[in-house]
Amino acid sequence: MEATRPLFIPVILGTARMGRMSQHAAHLLAQEIGKRPGVETELIDIAQLPLPTNDAGEAIKDSGFSAAMDRADALVIVAPEYNHGYSGLLKHVLDSCLKEYIHKAVGIVGVSAGPFGGTRVIQNLLPVMRELGLVTIFWDVNFSSVQKAFAPDGALLDDGYIRRIDKFLKELFWMAKTLRHGREQVPMD
Ligand SMILES: Cc1cc2nc3c(=O)[nH]c(=O)nc-3n(C[C@H](O)[C@H](O)[C@H](O)COP(=O)(O)O)c2cc1C
Repeated sequence: MEATRPLFIPVILGTARMGRMSQHAAHLLAQEIGKRPGVETELIDIAQLPLPTNDAGEAIKDSGFSAAMDRADALVIVAPEYNHGYSGLLKHVLDSCLKEYIHKAVGIVGVSAGPFGGTRVIQNLLPVMRELGLVTIFWDVNFSSVQKAFAPDGALLDDGYIRRIDKFLKELFWMAKTLRHGREQVPMD
């Protein structure tokens, strides 16, 4: 039944850097989403997507990534802050789809070594989200000094993040359900 069909909310790990700390944040988000009833998730590691770099846009669409974006009701993007911006590879991957994203929710998780928790990468991603047709929520998760938030094996060292992730996910699920209703029930006149 439409009303009980689980939401699908993949988590995109937005860097291919060796030794990336963002992977701990991405795993944590996928784990927390997986605990909620009525929601399915999957971790999409952009390092694993075989996209060429001598072309761009929908011409290089990966069928698996495209299918996941098509099925998604919302996205969580885990974005490390690189010189106040996002990783080039994240943008390259996001640019490979377009209609798949339209009228779907997105929540952004900023990750930084510095004290601002990726707030600048989040601000820089917002206009990109808008152009892709995604609808941003008004909560973010900010991992500041991420090297202190996780142990080397990925264990979370600060339980305060669980409460913040819970607020973020509640808002994201509400927006995902609302937009699914709109996509399926509200005609575009
Ligand atoms: C090219 C590059 C630029 C970076 N610029 C910033 C920055 O502007 N602000 C900041 O707080 N950390 C910066 N960092 C540190 C990252 O935020 C840090 O590595 C953090 O762990 C998230 O990235 P990671 O997932 O690649 O580890 C930068 C790292 C790299 C590799």
